[in-house]
Order: sequence, then structure tokens, then C-alpha cells
Amino acid sequence: MRGRDVLTITDFTRQELEALFEEADMMLSALKEGRRLRVLEGYVLATAFFEPSTRTKLSFQAAMLRLGGSYIDLPPEEVSSRAKGENLADTIRMLDSYADAIVIRHRVEGAARFAAEIAEHPVINGGDGTRDHPTQAMIDLYTVRKALGRIDGLTYGVLGDLKYGRAARSFILGLSLFKPGKVYLISPPQLACRQDVLEFLEERGVEYEEASSLASVVGELDVLYVTRIQRERFPDPAEYEKVRGSYRVSLEALKGAREHLVVLHPLPRVDELAFDVDATKHAWYFTQAAFGVPVRMALLKMILKG
Ligand code: NCD
Repeated sequence: MRGRDVLTITDFTRQELEALFEEADMMLSALKEGRRLRVLEGYVLATAFFEPSTRTKLSFQAAMLRLGGSYIDLPPEEVSSRAKGENLADTIRMLDSYADAIVIRHRVEGAARFAAEIAEHPVINGGDGTRDHPTQAMIDLYTVRKALGRIDGLTYGVLGDLKYGRAARSFILGLSLFKPGKVYLISPPQLACRQDVLEFLEERGVEYEEASSLASVVGELDVLYVTRIQRERFPDPAEYEKVRGSYRVSLEALKGAREHLVVLHPLPRVDELAFDVDATKHAWYFTQAAFGVPVRMALLKMILKG
């Protein structure tokens, strides 16, 4: 893993992910026991977020600090040299010379790969447009494993914006590295999963079915992955208006659910996941967000130290 870029979840094997999860377990115990780690003392991570972020950026920074390392953060556009018209390639070149690894989030698909071609140090994709969000998928799979003890053989529902959502896309691709029982892809028809992802599932022999409503499948699910409609990705605001509010997970919607159903959400939520689910034992999404730190600690250690 040492020196590797992290661009898309399918660059990784199941064995590599399992090793990552075991390392994350050790990080989690250290965090729980309040043990101070110094594994990355002297190392610097650069975070370069050209799109809004709360969890991804802060959990990468926290992960670095928790390992005894430090970070530098690219300032917002108006106070960095981007306001003077600096191009992405030059910005990356600079960060590469200041830090040992770079996490980048950008609205342009392929931006992380582009950065990785320029930088000599490892580049981690913190989300590129509608395409990839590999570290989110690592956290999501890790959460399933923690909640239900395994990833294989379970019935999954992935609900929401499967067309523009990079977290949903990466989670679905991540599942294909394991042996899920069945994957329901649940979305309004306008936001259906893209063909390349379906083809990938077919190639990998993953059993999937597209569905247009949660109600018809909710009783079968072990895991329900809820996602927000990615409003900012719609080329036409009128198209967004047509699908807005088309699904909502609430206590009512979970009535027929299995007792152990695990509800995940990469967050932020808007109105697709009701607050009344928070108090139920289905609600794993805040734990999932908290796992962002140990999983990213494990990843940073493996990439920077091996
Ligand atoms: C996701 C993202 O940025 O793709 N957020 C995250 O990193 N947890 C999901 C989203 O914005 O809906």
C-alpha cells in the first residue's frame, strides 16, 4: 500500500480492504482507550478541497493529528492564488513539494487522477464530481462489517440519487469487491444508476435489481444506504424540481423493516432522511461518520508508512 494513490475503490482488492479494516480496528481501539499515537510524527498532509466538505476534510485532518502528524489546508478561493488565476496543475505541484500526501476534492471528474499524474507523493481522491469517493466507500463497508459482522451474503438497498451521487456509486462498486447476497438499486427513474456501474456489477456476478420504491423491498433488507439528491449536479434546475422530495426514509417508511436493519447515509442529509429515525437502533449514520477518523488513520498509515 505504501506510496499508493487512492483514486477509485475498484483499484483495491478485497484482501487490501480487509487489511485496512483490521488496521482501522486497531486505530479505533487506540482512540477509545485514549492512547496517543506517534506513527506519523513529522509527516504533513495537504488538504485541497475545491468543493464544500465537512466530514471528509475534517476527518482526514483529525486522522493526521491523531497519528502525531500535521496538515496544511488550501485556503478558500478568494484568499488563495486561485483568485489570481493560478491553474490546478501548478497548485498541485506546490502542495506536492510542501507535503507527503495530498487529499483533493474537485467538481471535475478525473481531477484527482490528473493531480496524481503531476504529484510524486500519493494523492487521495476526496471526491471528484459525480464519479468517485473511494475513502467514503471504505468507511461505508467498514461500518457494515462493524454493525453486522460481515459484508458478504447480505441484502442491500441503495436509495436515492444513483446517477449523480459519487458516494452511492463508490459504495455499489465497493460492494462488488465482496459477495453481497443481492443489491437493490432504488431510485426515481430519472436518477437511476448509470450503465457503466450496472455493467460492472454484471461482470462481477453481483445479483442486482432496480426498483422505484423502497416500500416494495424494505422488508428484505439488511442494509439501507440512503443518499441525498445531488442538487448541485443537475444541469437543469427544472429537472431537480421534478424529483425533489420523491423519497423520504422515516419511521413510517421503515415499518416493515427487519429488526437488525442498518441504515447508512454518507451525510449531509437534507430531507430524505427524517429525524425520527435517529433515535432508533437502525440509525448507524453518525457512527459511520465517526468511523471516518479510524478508517482514514489506517489508510494514511498504510500509504505513508506501509
Ligand atoms: C458525500 C459527497 O461529498 O459526495 N459527502 C461526504 O463526503 N460524506 C455525499 C453528499 O454530498 O451527498
